[in-house]
Amino acid sequence: MSERKILVTSALPYANGPIHLGHLVEYIQTDIWVRYQKQRGVRCYYVCADDTHGTPIMLRADKEGITPEALIAKVWEQHTADFNDFGVAFDHYHSTHSEENKVFSSLIYTRLREAGHISSRTITQAYDPLKEMFLPDRFIKGDCPKCGAHEQYGDSCEVCGATYSPTELKNAVSAISGVKPIEKDSEHYFFKLADFTDLLKDWITAGHLQSEVSNKLKEWLEAGLHDWDISRDAPYFGFEIPDAPGKYFYVWLDAPIGYMASFKYLCDQQGIDFNEFWSKDSTAELYHFIGKDIIYFHALFWPAMLHGAHLRMPTAIFAHGFLTVNGEKMSKSRGTFITARTYLDHLNPSYLRYYFAAKLSAGVDDIDLNFDDFSQRVNSDLVGKVVNIASRCSGFISKRFAGELSPDCVEPALFAEFIASHERIAGHYESREFGKAMREIMALADKANHYIDEQKPWLLAKEAGQEERLHAVCSLGINLFRVLMAYLKPVVPDMVAAAEVFLQSGDLLWVTELQPLLSHKINEFTPLMTRVDNDKIAAIVAASTATLEKTPTQVTAPASKTNPVTSVKLDTAIADTIDFESFAKIDLRVGEIINAEEVEGSDKLLKLTLNIGIETRTIFSGIKTAYSPDALIGRLTLVIVNLAPRKMRFGISEGMVLAAGPGGQDIWLLSPDAGAYAGLRVS
Ligand code: 2FM
Ligand code: ZN
Repeated sequence: MSERKILVTSALPYANGPIHLGHLVEYIQTDIWVRYQKQRGVRCYYVCADDTHGTPIMLRADKEGITPEALIAKVWEQHTADFNDFGVAFDHYHSTHSEENKVFSSLIYTRLREAGHISSRTITQAYDPLKEMFLPDRFIKGDCPKCGAHEQYGDSCEVCGATYSPTELKNAVSAISGVKPIEKDSEHYFFKLADFTDLLKDWITAGHLQSEVSNKLKEWLEAGLHDWDISRDAPYFGFEIPDAPGKYFYVWLDAPIGYMASFKYLCDQQGIDFNEFWSKDSTAELYHFIGKDIIYFHALFWPAMLHGAHLRMPTAIFAHGFLTVNGEKMSKSRGTFITARTYLDHLNPSYLRYYFAAKLSAGVDDIDLNFDDFSQRVNSDLVGKVVNIASRCSGFISKRFAGELSPDCVEPALFAEFIASHERIAGHYESREFGKAMREIMALADKANHYIDEQKPWLLAKEAGQEERLHAVCSLGINLFRVLMAYLKPVVPDMVAAAEVFLQSGDLLWVTELQPLLSHKINEFTPLMTRVDNDKIAAIVAASTATLEKTPTQVTAPASKTNPVTSVKLDTAIADTIDFESFAKIDLRVGEIINAEEVEGSDKLLKLTLNIGIETRTIFSGIKTAYSPDALIGRLTLVIVNLAPRKMRFGISEGMVLAAGPGGQDIWLLSPDAGAYAGLRVS
């Protein structure tokens, strides 16, 4: 065991939405790094938790008619299943709504208060008189004070990009109840971040941050640090502030403390010394993997809170970029807002783990998931290069040599070259340059294949007197494959676990000391990975689009900020604006539903036949929750008739029916009246 002791965290996902591919960039990145450390024998713990507090979660539970506790319990199950199925192996996955977190939040707050770092004053805020609650900026809607665009949130305009305070919004209404907000005073508590200006000035340039992050923070520090409002008034789902009845910690106060809480739970389970990791004089390493949008919280507030509470500060913060899909922001309408579960329903998680690894670096650049590149790279690297080595050699070993490898290593120099790469590959893993590590590993795979190409075992197998050579060549191939498996283990652990069974040589550790297997019996080879099936990618896109059709309009409470890793706004995503020319391309007509039937195997879709005046169309529409087929026949609806036909699991959909509403039973078509208007073009 090495002397290092490491605690690693990923950002805590909010407990009001599913894990999606944007999130997974971070969890896969962190998991690879942790698995690498563990494979090297380092004492490394990886903890995380659901981020459960705040107004959006409270309102979502309200909307679902359940308690926030029931909501977060349900989401916890979903999140942990998703992580588990993607091979993200936390040592513990906790909840911020936990006893440990309550204790630590109170402790840190109390220590900050005792040291004079908490102040209080009365502030005026928008208040919903009907719901009897203060309204966060994102829960106020109105007209943009700059460009007049309607339906903009209280903090920024998505049309012209202006930022403003909610009081500047014209015709403001509460996004929750629709009533006009009033202004109301209340006392708030503040963390005096500016007390830590000197400390942070030193800290952000002392090697704890990536250089681009450090430069950005210097700018923020030069602009001056402000008091941070850490309290919220009831009703609020969170922890009540000590000695302040009716006041709750703002979700972002207790969220990072959730890192400690999750670890504390693990410590109690496993007898680990918590203080060894968190006390001021700790020699343990503490790393937080985060998205670049939450740097401010992690690199300013969090170190200051820890320091002010006499706890250790992070060793480093590792920020990563956002995920784009096919070069664009993830988009529900393009079917590229893909949840972890939708992906898992169709494709092998190892593909995505490898693809992300191949694209990841230590920087904060965004990474792109391009579907063509994805299948091409996985097929060519993992299947075509790596697995191919074993499949080319194993048949001969099992058929001609009873599954036993040769007693000698025929090319010790080649084997040694594979081993000698371990320092460079280790360096890339350690510094999170996973793309570079994958390139090194694939260059070795090329070498192994090149060796096999040169030796031509398939010819040796036919030549008399070449038995020994055939044995030696194929055995070396298997031994080289084994080194590659050891190198790839942090990235594709499931595939390597299958390879370990095939190789029969135990758990693969890091290759520092790895010796070739000689006169060693291996198992029958079974394909460790198959090629990416492009139809499955199409099915993922279709399923992700179908999710959108289920909820034609979204009235769920807006997320309080952009999503952590994708910059997509969950639930309330308003698509990018289009110009008038694009809008004019939409051919919108009134269609009469002349037939409607259920779709076998789908609990959301109905198959509609529509008379659009000039012809009839078949359209699959996600409105089954609201209508029985019989109730639809004879009714009118708006139809986009020039949408390209789309292949869905159940057939081809030739257009899109427009219906609106929050979903469930409440989805409305245009009109209950029959006939005369069918085919009318809407202008
Ligand atoms: O931005 C987010 O998604 C937050 N839930 C991340 C919290 S990370 C930590 F501070 F808890
Ligand atoms: Zn505007």
